[in-house]
Amino acid sequence: MRMYDLIMKKRNRMSLSREEIRFMIEHYTAGMIPDYQMSAMMMAVYFNGMNEEETLDLTMAMAESGDMLDLSSIDGIKVDKHSTGGVGDKTSLALAPMVAACGVPVAKMSGRGLGHTGGTIDKLESFPGFSVSMETDRFMKQVNEIGIAIMGQTKDLAPADKKLYALRDVTATVDNMSLIASSIMSKKLASGADAIILDVKTGSGAFMKEEKDAFALAEEMVRIGKGAGRDTRAVISNMDEPLGYAIGNALEVREAIDTLKGKGPDDFLELCLTLGTFMVLAGKKAENEDEAREMLLEKIENGSALEKLAQFVKAQGGDESFVYEPERLPRASMEKTVTAARDGFISHIDCDQVGICSLILGGGRETKDSVIDLSVGLRLSKKVGDKVREGETLANLYGNDASLLSEAAQRYADACHISKEPVKKPLLIKGMIR
Ligand code: URA
Repeated sequence: MRMYDLIMKKRNRMSLSREEIRFMIEHYTAGMIPDYQMSAMMMAVYFNGMNEEETLDLTMAMAESGDMLDLSSIDGIKVDKHSTGGVGDKTSLALAPMVAACGVPVAKMSGRGLGHTGGTIDKLESFPGFSVSMETDRFMKQVNEIGIAIMGQTKDLAPADKKLYALRDVTATVDNMSLIASSIMSKKLASGADAIILDVKTGSGAFMKEEKDAFALAEEMVRIGKGAGRDTRAVISNMDEPLGYAIGNALEVREAIDTLKGKGPDDFLELCLTLGTFMVLAGKKAENEDEAREMLLEKIENGSALEKLAQFVKAQGGDESFVYEPERLPRASMEKTVTAARDGFISHIDCDQVGICSLILGGGRETKDSVIDLSVGLRLSKKVGDKVREGETLANLYGNDASLLSEAAQRYADACHISKEPVKKPLLIKGMIR
């Protein structure tokens, strides 16, 4: 087989066989196919697409290019959740303990944040001592003992995707549906869960800006998951404004803890309950959606979800007393308030700009090696649809550098739009693929 012939086939709009796709991925990962040939192939795929079978074959080949985690020594149906990323998306922090408290084992691999969206691991490291570096044996033992563990992605997880994604990033071939879906799903399949619940975000703070693209991506990923024999379901959710009110690592941890105490923002709670319902159903701990939702709410009301978070933080070396005293989590030394310039209604918040405000304050990574400040971020006071009076607080910004605070405050003021006419609150859940 020759890579030249495969490029020619795709260029001429023909489909590639499973063997051809495997050859291409195996040889590329091993360094036997050069980047320039793979770039040509990615561009041919970008223009001519891949059919469902090719997309599944590509996903499986990438998943199997490294370690395939075997979670069979963990009792029960293992359920994983993946979000395509957004601003203020602290969902895993509250959702994982809620679901684990319902008896569904949560064995999750998570990543760090890059760019304007944050990562679960960074947020969890707000708990002093918390660590995600562990061997898979300990990871599985912890899930069996307390029902929940989160580890960092092993370096051998889907190495073909790592290499290919870096190449796509510099050759303008990221935004192709088959390539995005296979990239995300290869990592999820290699992580070993029996069921995968996807949260595909859409809007100005999301990877998929257009709703129709988010639906298409969700459908493609569900098809791949099912094709690979995993119970896969998806929720398409709004990211046209931040999720909840808090953005920034420790601030988001506090909001997640508030939610586990029954005092969280409505939109954030609703998303946790929607995704949690799918997870509890996939884990076969409830008969129907109503029962699953009730079960999740009960775990908040009786305190067992909060207790599960404390157990989890402790098991991973963190100081669990911070779960009960979240005011001790890292705090910035300075605060700046952004106020409304006129009366009206919040019509739109440029969500990616809000993520950039947090990045400017030091809460996110510009590059993979940036060191982040866990204490900084924003807390919004008004969200889309809210009425506002001139001089009223739109958001508080927290930082450790006065000039960065001023820069971020100006950016926030520009990102938050006020109209004279009343504005409807946006719909949080745009759709579901059961
Ligand atoms: N995230 C991924 O992991 N892969 C893509 O291709 C795009 C977003």
